[in-house]
Amino acid sequence: MTDESNVIPATDPFALFDAWFAEARTSEPNDANAMALATATPDAAPSVRMVLLKGHDACGFVFYTNAHSRKGGEVLANPQAALLFHWKSLRRQIRIEGPLEEVSAQEADDYFHSRPFVSQVGSAASDQSRPLDNRATYLARVEEISEAFSSAGEVPRPPHWTGFRLSPQRMEFWIDRPNRLHERRQFTLSGDQWNSTLLYP
Ligand SMILES: Cc1cc2nc3c(=O)[nH]c(=O)nc-3n(C[C@H](O)[C@H](O)[C@H](O)COP(=O)(O)O)c2cc1C
Repeated sequence: MTDESNVIPATDPFALFDAWFAEARTSEPNDANAMALATATPDAAPSVRMVLLKGHDACGFVFYTNAHSRKGGEVLANPQAALLFHWKSLRRQIRIEGPLEEVSAQEADDYFHSRPFVSQVGSAASDQSRPLDNRATYLARVEEISEAFSSAGEVPRPPHWTGFRLSPQRMEFWIDRPNRLHERRQFTLSGDQWNSTLLYP
């Protein structure tokens, strides 16, 4: 039989996230900060895609994107969203759910300009999620924006390129245990208090 004691502590879920994320950064081959982001239309049709976690603390989990994209349209119409991390190297999963809110213009500016010049150009040139007739069209826009701002060394942040912060109301930690007797612990926010319970796997 396996060791049946709990391995996921009933402590602060943010501290637990930090501990697991730190481990994932040393064990994942790349992009330990990659997470699936699920959004839904107001009539509840879901969609999901990967984004990168670019900041997190007790206020929430932040990613950056183009607000004119498909996800951007869904988020503006229906702020409820879910995040999922799956670290294969650790055999662990974290689910995080709650509403999204746009970050401040200052926060978005600071992050946009912390990125390499070529990344700023690529983002500014992309009408993310809109039809593109030909890849050459995109590359020509990249060239044009690159030339226009090369002497400045930075590109103005397009106002629709922004970040969103998910304020968690539910977080769930899943860990692989021997014989498929896996362990799950769910944290739910009630007022300003986080409660925790184990869940059947
Ligand atoms: C590992 C990985 C990380 C990604 N990170 C981001 C990101 O941080 N922001 C972003 O807008 N798109 C990111 N993408 C691209 C998205 O998955 C997606 O193709 C794009 O945002 C358009 O999604 P939408 O049409 O649902 O809006 C990433 C893709 C992968 C595979």
